[in-house]
Amino acid sequence: MFMGNTNKILLFNNLILCSTMFTIITGTQFGDEGKGKIVDLMAREYDLIVRFQGGDNAGHTVVVNGKKYKLHLTPSGVLFDARLLIGPGTVLNPQTLARELDTLADDGTVVDEKKLGIDAKTSIIMPYHVELDGLGESARSVKIGTTKRGIGYAYIDKVARDEVQMADLADEERLRRRLEELTPIKAAQIQSMGGDPSIMEDETWIRTYIELGRRFAPFIADVSHEINTALDKGKKVLAEGAQGAHLDVIHGTQKFVTSSSCIAGSACANLGVGPTRVDEVMGILKAYITRVGEGPLPTELKDKMGDRIREAGGEFGTTTGRPRRCGWFDLPLVKKSVALNGYTQIALTKLDVLSGIHPLKVCTAYELDGVRLDYPPESTADLARCVPVFEDLSGWEGDLTGIRSMDALPDGAIEYLSRLESLVGVPFKYISVGPGREQTFMK
Ligand code: GDP
Ligand code: IMO
Ligand code: MG
Repeated sequence: MFMGNTNKILLFNNLILCSTMFTIITGTQFGDEGKGKIVDLMAREYDLIVRFQGGDNAGHTVVVNGKKYKLHLTPSGVLFDARLLIGPGTVLNPQTLARELDTLADDGTVVDEKKLGIDAKTSIIMPYHVELDGLGESARSVKIGTTKRGIGYAYIDKVARDEVQMADLADEERLRRRLEELTPIKAAQIQSMGGDPSIMEDETWIRTYIELGRRFAPFIADVSHEINTALDKGKKVLAEGAQGAHLDVIHGTQKFVTSSSCIAGSACANLGVGPTRVDEVMGILKAYITRVGEGPLPTELKDKMGDRIREAGGEFGTTTGRPRRCGWFDLPLVKKSVALNGYTQIALTKLDVLSGIHPLKVCTAYELDGVRLDYPPESTADLARCVPVFEDLSGWEGDLTGIRSMDALPDGAIEYLSRLESLVGVPFKYISVGPGREQTFMK
């Protein structure tokens, strides 16, 4: 990997925001690490901010001057001047995007075709994908706990080459031809899963989609070409991952994963940018761990401590409102994430949430069938049987949300950060102590 191509330095609240030409940001755990907050923080330094996978299952929160933006599809750099792109590896629900852009416009942030580009090949999430997601989940005896946004079924259609792409949506005749072809297949599928196939003949949503196609037609772009041309001109590109490493469809905790690849390499493949162009890969890492939906979480706290962290951290899903499962920091999972992503730096978030907890437990290894493991077993079923081995740290007292430098932190917080950094083995660049943009400092 070609690294260190730092070409601009800017100060914000005493933060040195070094931008490189092409930076990829991904979640290191099970999503909701605070990617939206850190992308917003870094966005002022970038010319292009790009989503490369996932869809509106993502919920990325940006908080500026007390105002909260919950973004599902719009890249989290929307409050700055950067051009925003949605790449062809994403799955896009145009109804969600329309709602999101309308809400942003009501707040005074206009996102027009000059600001946002959507790749012509982006797969469109259709109402039947949402229907199938719901039916699929109810039919499963062991649930995944999907967001029911139709993500999995939209990706199935992409791989099966039965998708409706952005370019089809924008052309009424092509959309109708495509639907004629797909209607019998989808109706049969819905019926076979116990659903009502009449949704396929419902002109109401078809007309809504035709309207949305007209609205978004001017936004159509060639994302790979745009990024590569921008990089050729020395412009800076920030790729914003959704979900997290252990929700990755290939390397995650199958079957309890999402349907796209969420790791850094996926940015290159999904955006059509060569890996030789990557300068930095930043992992967003929560000071503890959370998970929404089903699947193994070895350090899960099913007791009052779990409730305490959930309340203190506001750990309720940004997309579905579901309570997030909370657990102690899990080093083996983070080590795997470092390997999968090749991180060059980390932003550590939500340190403030752990104030007043004594001791703070850090899972440094697992025990499985009497054997100590420093790295997660590859089989999800084995991971589910792992028993965490903990190291105790003393913790600290006091509110951290007003702290803006390392040396103002209580000793216990410095000890916690230093221990995590040395265990993880990747430099911690930013420390986040609250949801607000300004509640961040350099390690
Ligand atoms: P994402 O999906 O990775 O963008 O994360 P989410 O936005 O879904 O969830 C992170 C939540 O934590 C949001 O409500 C953020 O506003 C909030 N948050 C981010 N960083 C911090 C932090 O350092 N401290 C606290 N208390 N909250 C934070
Ligand atoms: P951000 O980008 C946390 C989880 C769901 C479920 C599994 C599959 O905000 O970090 P899906 O609807 O994708 O088929 O659901 O993945 N999941 C997320 N969990 N953060 C997310 O996104 C998630 N997106 C999907 O809860 O367990
Ligand atoms: Mg989220």
